Amino acid sequence: MPVAHNASPDQMLSAPLMAMLADIKSFLGVSTPTLWLQAAVSHLDALLVDHAQCEKKAAAAAMQLMFRYPQDAELCRRMSKLAREELRHFEQVAAHMQAREIQDRQQTASRYASSLKTYIRKDEPHRLIDALLVGAFIEARSCERFAALVPWLSDTGSTADLELADFYRGLLASEGRHFRHYIELAEARADYSLEPRLAELRAVENTLVIAPDDTFRFHSGPPMLLAG
Ligand SMILES: [Fe+2]
Ligand SMILES: [Fe+2]
Repeated sequence: MPVAHNASPDQMLSAPLMAMLADIKSFLGVSTPTLWLQAAVSHLDALLVDHAQCEKKAAAAAMQLMFRYPQDAELCRRMSKLAREELRHFEQVAAHMQAREIQDRQQTASRYASSLKTYIRKDEPHRLIDALLVGAFIEARSCERFAALVPWLSDTGSTADLELADFYRGLLASEGRHFRHYIELAEARADYSLEPRLAELRAVENTLVIAPDDTFRFHSGPPMLLAG
């Protein structure tokens, strides 16, 4: 059964985190539907398995850019740092899974990331710019969901869930600027305004977050079925 909660993130985050969250929310445009949050707190095992996968994929995506653009020293330096940070997050998620005796497992690709990636143009420099902008949306949505989960996880009466709420609050603090880093990198590599492209990608992203989804995932829409 979904767990009720009485507090909003505003009451459970520090002022600097609230300012960061406001920036994230204004970038994204729409918030995570309550139906997704209800599914998440009712299926924390599936949430954590997919969260572990997301951290691995974030590191892999950063490294993929390093392989594709070795001549771009600034990009490679920042992606290397990001990949290490994301792998540390994977280790932290894995520790929470171990404490809960959740077995990691392979997952099929989520609708969210695979759909967004189809909008990456094929020709350079647009391919790199779009990859960076898609990365920005994925990062921002992750943080918006970390923050949205905090009050729900704080309200279950479980110590393990309180620890997970603390972890997600900490991830918001350490990841909350990642999306801005991706946008800055894209802006520095584009000789045109990115606003029209951001608006197009935002419309796609918002639909993926709001429309009912076949499966429950960290970045899914409200799930019609709760698959692991
Ligand atoms: Fe991360
Ligand atoms: Fe990140």
